[in-house]
Amino acid sequence: MESSGISRRAMLLGAGAVTAWAASPARALLARVDAMAASPMIESLLARMTVAEKAGQLTLNAAAWAGGAANALNPTKAGATFDAQLGEVRAGQLGGVFNGHGTDMAQRMQTVAMREARLKIPLIFAADVIHGFRTVFPVPLGEAGSFDPDLAEQTARAAAVEASAAGIDWTFAPMVDIAHDQRWGRAVEGAGEDVFLGRMMAAARVRGFQGTKGLTADDAVMACAKHFAAYGAGEGGLDYNSVDVSERTLRDVYFPPFQAAFGAGVGSTMASFNEISGVPATANPWLLDTVLRKEWGFGGLVVSDYTGDEELIAHGFAADAREATRLAFMAGVDMSMQSNFYRDHLPALVASGAVPMARLDQAVRRVLLAKQALGLFDDPFRRIDAKRERTRVRTKAHLALARDAGRRSIVLLKNDGDLLPLPRSGKRIALIGPFAQGQRELIGPWNVYGSDKEAVDLLSGVRALVADPASVTATDGSGIDAPLPGGIEAAVAAANAADIVILAVGEAQNMSGEAQSRADIVVPAAQMALAAAVAATGKPIVVALRNGRALALSGAVLEAPAILVTWFLGSQSGLAIADILFGIAAPSARLPVSFPYATGQEPYHYAHKSTGRPNPEGPRVDYKAHYREVPNAARFAFGHGLTYGKIGYSDLQLAGGKLAWDGTLEVRATITNSGTRAAEEVVQLYIHDVAASITRPVRELKAFRRVRLAAGARQEVVFTLKRSDLQFVGLDLKPTVEPGQFRLWVAPSAQAEGVSATFELVAA
Ligand code: BGC
Repeated sequence: MESSGISRRAMLLGAGAVTAWAASPARALLARVDAMAASPMIESLLARMTVAEKAGQLTLNAAAWAGGAANALNPTKAGATFDAQLGEVRAGQLGGVFNGHGTDMAQRMQTVAMREARLKIPLIFAADVIHGFRTVFPVPLGEAGSFDPDLAEQTARAAAVEASAAGIDWTFAPMVDIAHDQRWGRAVEGAGEDVFLGRMMAAARVRGFQGTKGLTADDAVMACAKHFAAYGAGEGGLDYNSVDVSERTLRDVYFPPFQAAFGAGVGSTMASFNEISGVPATANPWLLDTVLRKEWGFGGLVVSDYTGDEELIAHGFAADAREATRLAFMAGVDMSMQSNFYRDHLPALVASGAVPMARLDQAVRRVLLAKQALGLFDDPFRRIDAKRERTRVRTKAHLALARDAGRRSIVLLKNDGDLLPLPRSGKRIALIGPFAQGQRELIGPWNVYGSDKEAVDLLSGVRALVADPASVTATDGSGIDAPLPGGIEAAVAAANAADIVILAVGEAQNMSGEAQSRADIVVPAAQMALAAAVAATGKPIVVALRNGRALALSGAVLEAPAILVTWFLGSQSGLAIADILFGIAAPSARLPVSFPYATGQEPYHYAHKSTGRPNPEGPRVDYKAHYREVPNAARFAFGHGLTYGKIGYSDLQLAGGKLAWDGTLEVRATITNSGTRAAEEVVQLYIHDVAASITRPVRELKAFRRVRLAAGARQEVVFTLKRSDLQFVGLDLKPTVEPGQFRLWVAPSAQAEGVSATFELVAA
């Protein structure tokens, strides 16, 4: 590689994933939005609409149907009643509702829209279907740990089948925000810290929600890639906080999962709450128009987040409601969620000329086209069918998928002395901890329609799989945040009476999710005291962590011989964990986020830059990039996860060690299981661009493969690299590839050496 950035040959590549949007079938209809030749039916409807009715179509409010978790998560407007909302539908003042409840509600509302409103425009019913509907799947972060996009597609499909049966047309998912800072509670909703994994999961989830039969299918829901953009980059990991990132980092890190979602045909996107370098995303014409529409050609719908336009006032960006409306609308937010700002202020803004009628029509057209794409003009009741609602949810197949998804999401962090798997008979087992038993803390944050009451807890799961259920006891030992009177004594007695302890500790489900940033990402002190007391009994301990983010583990929890990361696994939680505990299924998931040594390292992610003073391996050297207290590394690295086998990496071969400019490079490595049990290994390929015109991360994931290895088996894994795998966002902010040296690892995690070599990308 040439040493000077100036003499280097930079190659501009096409923005492939993005242009794919215009070509894929599911969005053929939506893509017509900006071509003025939209549907004649919609054009004639537009011609008949008053400005007030147009503003009504751009208004989306929380359903005022009483009760349920949905209302707790997203309270309806003060004073909003269902009758008042029906009145709004009748008057053409509402385009849709979100997080409503079931087909009865949808039937009543849609009937009013179709029979009593002047123009008979169907409502659109939206909902946060983030990780399952009535069947609850693992939280998205946990499921990302499966490193299995097909699994994510299947669970999104099952969620869509259930949600659509309950009248839902549109889901506010997938959440595709990259999260480098694990203090941020919403990390739980996404796919973790990595761009490559994030892209794979984003596209898979879109495919799953929208299905393959087109959006008109009665089991398809329109997906919404959110939150555009860089919501995960809030300062200090604080939810809603300001973001200050360079355009390069936006393009390199935060945009690609959105581009992957657009490439997979997602029908909508949601503007994020945060500002980006001083301009709130909700009123950011560069983001929502220059990049999204003009550069990427996105033709779908842009919706605000919940009161996102109203919040422009608190941001200090708009002086009042009217200005906030104008700024958000003119920046490119088509539909306003929950503030009523569009309904209240667009008519006057249009009358005054501050908002052109053409822009109003463009936004309304997008909403109507989304409704048309979903088949609602042909049959407004196509997803509203009480019988389907009863028969399509919580089916045997969906529950089996939830169990499988659960076990494929569990990460085995440690397994000293091969403590796991446990025998199914002959041992007395004490389940100890606030997550040991009970219909609570199972389904995880951001699940609006599932219920802990319908989920399997750890005690039931373990008892279902052991020969003698009476050999298993359960003791809380502690509350989640506070000690229980006599709890530790009871737990120690239970441990003493057992052969093995399963310690179920971690975070409550309301400790992650929206507005749940934590200043210290640890197991709460009361549970640490419990862990220490139980460890003092000397009994072998398997920790089963419940968590919605990476945690900084310490003390008796960290020192336990075996640790499982079990996230929030949803409906079949206890069974999925028990399957892994007893070896009915083997652990195969990997950390989608780095578990740090200490919270103070956050934001920590493996793909950080080297700095001018990288910390050398081995004994501490002064004046290097490290902390006084902890290494500049993860305690458990991104990509880490053990199996029940004994896996080795060898025989790396890089055919010739050179990648020709227009060629491919075959990378071969041999993976061996020298253990006595079958294993499924996620083989990861990382690269590092040794010298480039823009400094590059110390490692970047570029591919992964899952291999199944029987005991004693070995297999060669082959990856094929090409030039585009080495591209990054260059000095000119365009995708760039530079010839030169690259380091490559085929390894079991971002921190493991595995097998490594260098190769050269040769200039044409
Ligand atoms: C969240 C969104 C969600 C919306 C509607 C907001 O508070 O940020 O992710 O889709 O509420 O429930």
